[in-house]
Amino acid sequence: MNTDAITLTIDGKKIEARRGDTILEAADRAGVYVPRLCWMKDLLPAGGCRVCTVRVNGRPQAACTQPVAPGMVIENDTEELRELRRDLIDMLFVEGNHFCMFCEKSGNCELQALAYRFGITAPKYPYLFPQRGVDASHPDVMIDGNRCVLCGRCVRASRALDGKHVFGFTGRGPGKRLAVNGPNLAATDVAAPDRAVAACPTGTLLVKRVGYKVPVGRRLYDHSPIGSEIEPQTPGK
Ligand code: FES
Repeated sequence: MNTDAITLTIDGKKIEARRGDTILEAADRAGVYVPRLCWMKDLLPAGGCRVCTVRVNGRPQAACTQPVAPGMVIENDTEELRELRRDLIDMLFVEGNHFCMFCEKSGNCELQALAYRFGITAPKYPYLFPQRGVDASHPDVMIDGNRCVLCGRCVRASRALDGKHVFGFTGRGPGKRLAVNGPNLAATDVAAPDRAVAACPTGTLLVKRVGYKVPVGRRLYDHSPIGSEIEPQTPGK
């Protein structure tokens, strides 16, 4: 008997999980998609974006940081939580400058893919149109701050996976911004193959000269919606 196995419920479905799993990991293994943005495989979760919010025994929790416990009753796909996630995604859009039709990450962007999944076609909140810069100083990598959602994936990946400290944050609250370890990106030791660059869920960190290698229409989320890699596919769908 596996003493590490525990049972819990997600949206009325009984699933088995391993002690020490987070709710998100247990859900993934059971084929239940919990939407997420700041979470990334191989990185410690930061619990920052709250897109993965679920209700655990009635209380809101971040699925990416909350460990499982026996008998937990989890709500994930409810209208209330869909609405909350829709609002969070909407706020991320209006708080930056996301012009998807001109962005080379279109079709591969997790923020855009989440918006499609949640049926967001127009913003609910007013655009803030912030003034943010572009740093194209590096020969191979660039930063477009207009598209940064402050998920911190590049910050964590640079440290934990690349063994560098290229990215960090400056400022607080609405003034919080992505920063680099030097006067500009060219002055850092970032390199195009760095995991930190690939970690960006939007078009903030881009490798130069490969933008349209894969044409629009043939990109990751042009084929199937975000989350479909986790959910079991219904034949014929
Ligand atoms: S994915 Fe859990 S808080 Fe961002």
